[in-house]
Amino acid sequence: MDLFAALESLIPAFQAGLDQAVSFPELEALRVDFLGRKGRLAQVMAHLPQTAPADRPRLGQSANEVKHRLTGLFEARKSALEAVMACAELARFDAGLPGRLPWRGSRHPCMLVMEEVCSVFSGLGYDIVSGREIELDYYNFEALNMPPDHPARDMQDTLYVAPGIVMRTHTSPMQVHAMLARRPPLAVIAPGKVYRRDSDLTHTPMFHQIEGLLVGANVSMADLRGTLTAFVRAVFGASTQVRFRPSFFPFTEPSAEVDISCFLCGGSGQEADGPCRVCKGTGWVEILGSGMVDPAVFTNVGYDPEVYTGFAFGMGIERIAMLKYGIGDLRMFFENDVRFLSQFA
Ligand code: PHE
Repeated sequence: MDLFAALESLIPAFQAGLDQAVSFPELEALRVDFLGRKGRLAQVMAHLPQTAPADRPRLGQSANEVKHRLTGLFEARKSALEAVMACAELARFDAGLPGRLPWRGSRHPCMLVMEEVCSVFSGLGYDIVSGREIELDYYNFEALNMPPDHPARDMQDTLYVAPGIVMRTHTSPMQVHAMLARRPPLAVIAPGKVYRRDSDLTHTPMFHQIEGLLVGANVSMADLRGTLTAFVRAVFGASTQVRFRPSFFPFTEPSAEVDISCFLCGGSGQEADGPCRVCKGTGWVEILGSGMVDPAVFTNVGYDPEVYTGFAFGMGIERIAMLKYGIGDLRMFFENDVRFLSQFA
């Protein structure tokens, strides 16, 4: 076997292979086939011991030269292929395409409703105040006429941070803070987060409320009704009807739950295919709790209940947003799914 000829023949064979190769894996396979430890060059050189000793130095030199040539050919082909790939990449780039729009955030539906409610009440002359989410038991319950053993506490599954310290279960402690910080006449609205130990289909451990409080001389339930009617019509439409239902809250007396005529069926209770799914056929949906400030609360903040009267109300924001936007599942508010959130731009 002529090893010189065998070595020389590797060059055109490698070149032919390289010419055919159109991908980097193919190139690499060729390199291994020719230059690898068990490749064709190594196989030729495995015959070295059988050659005449005098030829061996020249054979070794020749093998080195061939190896050098093969490596050069390989590098040249690799660069050429890289250039081709870069061109292909460029060809895919369409300079005529419109640019990608930057991601634009949108406001959360709860925030939209809070802003809308606040702006209605600002228009009526109310100040917007905010307060702490971690409260003393005193402000959350006691000052609001719920002493430690009061059964009404059971309605609010409270999260205790430490003895006597709670995550506020409603925004009503803001009534107490506002009355302590100001003197009548006063009118405030207090939006914010509240917490209860509830978690199921219709309850989340955190949700939002807006509290309203107005105190002055000769404030009557008629003022409460007029104010809430104006509010409801601003948010849900001018033809919305309002209904007061007697209720109980320890910090208001008398108390009323406020219903509005169902926005979906217009109050008829009927849809084309049966009872209305929003109001369950009753024609009314509940939206807030309210009442005249209890004299005991006035006494707790040092206001003379013989001089001052006032009303308070509190509403759940998620509930209003669900009604207003037709959202069926409370959990959607907190899943942070942009497909949902971006619908409220
Ligand atoms: N704080 C009450 C609740 O969370 C609502 C309310 C507020 C009722 C103000 C009357 C007056 O259920």
